[in-house]
Amino acid sequence: MSHMLDYDVEAARYDATRGGVPRARAAARAILALVPERARTLLDVGCGTGLVTERLVRPGLRVFGVDASAGMLSAAARRMGPVVALGDCRGLPFADESLDAVSAVWLLHLLPYAPAVVAECARVLRPGGVFVATVDKDAGHDVDSDVDALLAPYRVTRAHDAEPRITAVASEHGLRRAGEARFTGHGQGRSPAGTAAAVSRGYFASALALDEAESGALVRRLERLPDPDVPRADPVYRLLALRKEG
Ligand SMILES: C[S@@+](CC[C@H](N)C(=O)[O-])C[C@H]1O[C@@H](n2cnc3c(N)ncnc32)[C@H](O)[C@@H]1O
Repeated sequence: MSHMLDYDVEAARYDATRGGVPRARAAARAILALVPERARTLLDVGCGTGLVTERLVRPGLRVFGVDASAGMLSAAARRMGPVVALGDCRGLPFADESLDAVSAVWLLHLLPYAPAVVAECARVLRPGGVFVATVDKDAGHDVDSDVDALLAPYRVTRAHDAEPRITAVASEHGLRRAGEARFTGHGQGRSPAGTAAAVSRGYFASALALDEAESGALVRRLERLPDPDVPRADPVYRLLALRKEG
């Protein structure tokens, strides 16, 4: 089973539980390193609360955001005002070939329809523009900890944001790999107790294939690990830059 978290509910705790400003700053820096200097417009799709989006700051660059969750978007609107809009990234409110860059942080791994999103981002990009997106998000957590060792047997093998999948569909839409960057998921290292609670509430739905019995057994094994409240190493996430030809 794979379902997404309810981001309207998640909005209130999102910033505090997803690495806050240090993670957002690291992500924004990595995105900007992949956005060409000449870019004048950047759209952040799945912008969430805007914690990353508001840090995509460079002289001469206008930034927009779109998110499908009203709860997440209202946090983004408080930060950024009317440059963010409620919308689905399969039908962006922008004309063909109207933007210089599009970013998608921690989005594609959630979506069985990730290929449709890549196609839509390609549509709104000008030739020479770039789509910057996290890939293999859940693999960022393969940091060789006791917690990750317990999760490993259940990890899905074909993630929605697997790099070969994303680059294949990108190439069908005229986007070619043009670089990559990494950022540290500050504060995203997993503790045994936090992971057990997250497994129980379905947080890993897109990353782990577990039935109810397996989920219960995994929670009990996590609860037996030492130092239950000590987070293990921070994960490292990868961003690809995909450039539109022409
Ligand atoms: C894990 S959050 C990432 C938020 C932000 N990019 C960040 O790094 O903090 C994923 C976001 O994608 C949004 N989302 C999921 N499906 C979407 C869709 N089809 N269109 C637009 N946004 C979507 C969710 O509402 C949520 O805010």
